[in-house]
Amino acid sequence: MEIIRDIPGLRHYIEQLKTEKKSIGFVPTMGALHNGHLELIRKSGQQNDLTICSIFVNPTQFNNPSDLKNYPRESTKDLALLEEINCHAVFMPSVKIMYEENYSINLDFGYLEKIMEGKFRPGHFKGVGLIVTKLFNLIQPNKAYFGRKDLQQLTLIKTLVKELFFDIEIVAVDTIREKDGLAMSSRNNLLTKQERKKATDLFRALLEAKQKLNNGESVITVKHFIKEYFTLKSSIVLEYFEIIHTSNFKNVTEIHEKSNVSLCIAGYLGKVRLIDNISLI
Ligand code: PAJ
Repeated sequence: MEIIRDIPGLRHYIEQLKTEKKSIGFVPTMGALHNGHLELIRKSGQQNDLTICSIFVNPTQFNNPSDLKNYPRESTKDLALLEEINCHAVFMPSVKIMYEENYSINLDFGYLEKIMEGKFRPGHFKGVGLIVTKLFNLIQPNKAYFGRKDLQQLTLIKTLVKELFFDIEIVAVDTIREKDGLAMSSRNNLLTKQERKKATDLFRALLEAKQKLNNGESVITVKHFIKEYFTLKSSIVLEYFEIIHTSNFKNVTEIHEKSNVSLCIAGYLGKVRLIDNISLI
């Protein structure tokens, strides 16, 4: 596996692949790789001549400095996993390489930045949009892979590709979960053993909400149920629970078309912020 750490090295590698007419699958990550990430890489391996992964803990998408400082960094283990799964190349730049000291570009995603992840993590999506744009420009992949675990991010990336005319197909990959249902996440590494046991409440609550909606209970009743669940029965401090139209992220007030509805949730377990979502069918 090629380990590339600078832009001239990356450009040279990409130029070569383009002259050889190889199709490129790209999987951007922030490292501390788990089976969710590996699933994206496996998918890319099936659909492209070659897969490039990036590992970069992107400072501009962290609205909370201690979250950035504590974010797990495990590059030795990550490289071994990537090697094992036959990833062809990994791009691991430094912050200095990816950002000018006083960079000036400021992407604005409008409504998507004002709700859920955007609302509770101000500036987060500007940082995601900026780094993914830079990576897309450098790597020029044919396909890029993103997890449904970060549903709002996935939608944002699709918007980016559409509005900036990137000639890249975005492939969405379903959420990979632990045996007890907890969505895999690099942040799960930061949970204590006790917290880890309680973390599954997030998924359990989503399943209960889904069942209630499918049984005909109203959106208002289910929202109330979830609020009460986290106030009375869970150690997780609920940040938001929203029932949205998957296509435009607008709030659902009444269920008409089940196929277009997602249930999205975020909360804190101790200092660790967890998110999850499921679709209504
Ligand atoms: P990171 O959190 O490392 O996630 C990298 C990719 O893996 C994202 O597309 C995410 O949705 C996907 N992923 C994470 N957990 C998953 C799971 N349990 N099942 C399936 N896919 C999962 O998301 C980011 O990094 C960053 O914002 C990034 C896009 C790299 C930009 O910095």
